[in-house]
Amino acid sequence: MSVVENFSRMASHMVNGMMVHEQLMNTYLFLGLKGYAECHKYHYLEETKSYISLCEYSVEHFDQIVTASINPDGIPEIIPMSWKQNNKYNIIVKTRIQAVEAALEEWISWEEKTKTLYESIYHEIINENVSASEFVKSYILDVEEEIVYAKNELLAKRAMEFDMPSILEEQEKYERSFKKKIRKG
Ligand SMILES: [Fe+2]
Repeated sequence: MSVVENFSRMASHMVNGMMVHEQLMNTYLFLGLKGYAECHKYHYLEETKSYISLCEYSVEHFDQIVTASINPDGIPEIIPMSWKQNNKYNIIVKTRIQAVEAALEEWISWEEKTKTLYESIYHEIINENVSASEFVKSYILDVEEEIVYAKNELLAKRAMEFDMPSILEEQEKYERSFKKKIRKG
C-alpha cells in the first residue's frame, strides 16, 4: 500500500472519529453536562483540524488527494437507541451515572483503536518514507495524550463513585477551560 493509500485509511478513521466525538458531545448535552460536552466539542474540532492537516500534507508533499471512504459500520453506536425518542427530563439518575461511565469507556476504547491503527501505518511507511512516518508519529503522540487524559478522567470519576452532585458542580470549570482552548485554537 502506498503512503497516500495509508493516509486515506487514516482519513477514513478520522471522519469516524469526528462522529464519535459528536455522539459523545450529544450524550453529554442530553445529560445536561455542558462541561463534558464542551470537551468533546473541542475534540471534534481538533479532529477536523487534524483531518485538514492530513489533506494538506498529502497534496503538498505527495501531490495526491487523500480519499476518505465512509464506513458507517466503523462508527460505534454510543447514544442509546432508547434516548432517540426520549426527552432529557425522563432520564433517571442511575441511567445518567451508567451513561457517564459508558461514554468514558467508549472514548478510551476508540482512541486506543486509533493509536493501534496509526502505529501500524507508521510501521508500514517508515521504510518507504521517513518524513511521512514522522508526520504520522505526531498524530500518534497526540492520540496518546488524549488516551492519558481520558483514562485519568475515568479513574477520577470512579474514585468519586460517579457522585452526581460533584459531577454537576465541576461542569462550569470544564466548560470554561474547554471554551478557552477552543478560542486559542
Ligand atoms: Fe479524539
